[in-house]
Amino acid sequence: MKLLHVDASPKGGRSNSRALARYFIASLQEQGVNLEIDYLDLRQQPPAHIDRSFTIAAYTPAAERTAAMKQALEPSDALCRRVLEADAFVFAMPMHNFSYPSVFKAFIDNIVRAELTYLVDDSGHYIGQLSRQKALFITTRGTDMRAGQPLSHMDALTHSLQSAFGFVGVQAPTFVDAQPTQFAATIEREQALARARIELLAVARDWVKQLP
Ligand SMILES: Cc1cc2nc3c(=O)[nH]c(=O)nc-3n(C[C@H](O)[C@H](O)[C@H](O)COP(=O)(O)O)c2cc1C
Repeated sequence: MKLLHVDASPKGGRSNSRALARYFIASLQEQGVNLEIDYLDLRQQPPAHIDRSFTIAAYTPAAERTAAMKQALEPSDALCRRVLEADAFVFAMPMHNFSYPSVFKAFIDNIVRAELTYLVDDSGHYIGQLSRQKALFITTRGTDMRAGQPLSHMDALTHSLQSAFGFVGVQAPTFVDAQPTQFAATIEREQALARARIELLAVARDWVKQLP
């Protein structure tokens, strides 16, 4: 299985989301899954933010692009190839101000591409091209935004991920959200991470069961 693993935390070795992603991948490997891992660390290799030349080039049909337009789109083309070639995704990120870190937004802006990751048919319907890929989102939140908690309505992260990846065809993604990981007593933070590890183990078992 070709797995695209993307980390978005700026915290490097001290990151909870990075540790949870490693735990999930190790769980798959311990269960005998043969993984070919394509790793992207957005802290080390942040995708460019969308600029004028990208915008013009991206909305010019591929057949009509100039050499300069093609060059402007090259890094985004390369990221699109990586997502299209993967069989599965593990995206790990902290919540930053109610949504994803800006590097992950830049990643999304680079991989949502007409004629590559989504097509538009003759009736104007969008057809996402990432419908065969499994997807796991691992998110960490300093506060507790689980259903029923006072801050639950402030979770703009889950819905935004569902919309962006749903648009490019990702079906039924799995979410494992560790919370509260920061603004709580030590015991609650440890329990949040322990809950997340239990959920991740269950997801790993599920993926193993679904292997051809
Ligand atoms: C810039 C910044 C913004 C944050 N915004 C939120 C937030 O909106 N809600 C929240 O619950 N936690 C927030 N946090 C806390 C992180 O989500 C939390 O510490 C998380 O566990 C970090 O994951 P990491 O260790 O993988 O980086 C924020 C942290 C930072 C650095």
